[in-house]
Amino acid sequence: MSVIKLNTARLEPQVTQDEINQIWPEIKAAKQTLIQGTGAGNDFLGWVNLPTELDPTIVKEIKNQVHRIATEQKIEAFVVIGIGGSYLGARAVIEALQSEFAFNNVANGKPLVVYAGHTLSEDYCHQLLEFLDTKNYAVAVISKSGTTTEPAVAFRIVREHLEKKYGRTGAAERIIAITDKQRGALHDIAQQEHYPAFVIPDNVGGRFSVLTPVGLLPIAMAGYDIDALLEGAKEMRQMCLDGDTPETNPAMLYAACRNILYRKDKKVEMLVNFVPNLRYISEWWKQLYGESEGKDGKGILPHSLSFTTDLHSMGQYVQQGERTMFETVISVDHPLHEVTIPSDEKNLDGINFLVGKHLNDINRCAEQGTIIAHHNGGVPVLQISLPHIDERVLGQLIYFFEFACGVSGYTLGVNPFDQPGVEAYKKNMFALMGKPGYENYKLQ
Ligand code: PA5
Repeated sequence: MSVIKLNTARLEPQVTQDEINQIWPEIKAAKQTLIQGTGAGNDFLGWVNLPTELDPTIVKEIKNQVHRIATEQKIEAFVVIGIGGSYLGARAVIEALQSEFAFNNVANGKPLVVYAGHTLSEDYCHQLLEFLDTKNYAVAVISKSGTTTEPAVAFRIVREHLEKKYGRTGAAERIIAITDKQRGALHDIAQQEHYPAFVIPDNVGGRFSVLTPVGLLPIAMAGYDIDALLEGAKEMRQMCLDGDTPETNPAMLYAACRNILYRKDKKVEMLVNFVPNLRYISEWWKQLYGESEGKDGKGILPHSLSFTTDLHSMGQYVQQGERTMFETVISVDHPLHEVTIPSDEKNLDGINFLVGKHLNDINRCAEQGTIIAHHNGGVPVLQISLPHIDERVLGQLIYFFEFACGVSGYTLGVNPFDQPGVEAYKKNMFALMGKPGYENYKLQ
């Protein structure tokens, strides 16, 4: 039973019901290609059935590791080392659920999750090590290939810090590796050093891996309910597989609208939130759609904005700049906490008319006002409504976006499951760093 709703009312006149009906046979064909596994990249479709087929012993083992590390060792911080698909999903869910001010989460019995291996910034790394100097901590190192430079470099540095702090044996008890079943440098290190390890399935690509240990382990370590997350994904999977009409399948409808808009030269999609906790959902979504569709000279450019913050910086452009964009607004119906506007006798700020109102009521006025204004300014607006933010709803949202991405990519005519373009910068970087084997490589 879905709790996520898609509202297409403010796509008109750029997207009409007739146009949705016209493209629908293509969308249905793309869905069949996806679920029957007959399209390009069909060796990377393991994510389609993950919510129902994930081995329960893996979930149990994740919980055992959380108990051993978070509860028994009472860690204050948990470092997640990974980049791209090996960290964005976990961060998206954790940041959606945790307090924006969770600097000292340990007070609630939960370690603060911090990130490494997603940047080569020396100052970031120094700041992280300075932070870890004073914390009781553990580490998950995540890399499917096991050879990605950024996490490999970060892991070497953090591991040295960990070994200095806890000794080699103590460090080994605080490291969990998540990597390929049998290949790669990380796999070999984990075996040699006897780190507990989880496998990233061969048939699940990085950006689709949040419902494998890649996402589940850090999310559980942060104290969140991975059963509910999987349950939500399962509900949405059922809906995506069963529904075949625009009314019953929001993921297919989203894929249809995006493709109609793209064919009308709407080349930029802005994923908009009015809740800052969702900004890493946008980062995860950008990778999902950017890597899946941005190839062969095609693809919508995924962009993201956080309102009302960005209305005061990007609002002007959205309202009156190039009309090459559309917005997908993630609306959250109910906040989890209440804050109301206090009264002030002097009313010098002139906002006494808001006294007693919930901040969310004001935020919803901003949202509605923005949607109407942007729509009237020539920006088609799609609205995805979430009832609130919790693990189950996030599980639905994740699967919704993943399924829609597969359907949308096949409708666009690309292989949504490869990312050949990511290699170009790596080869240049290897040559510049003097990596053995790249001595004669010409920068391109
Ligand atoms: O989606 C992808 O394939 C990429 O973003 C990878 O996840 C990212 O490059 C990290 O790769 P790896 O997990 O092999 O270290």
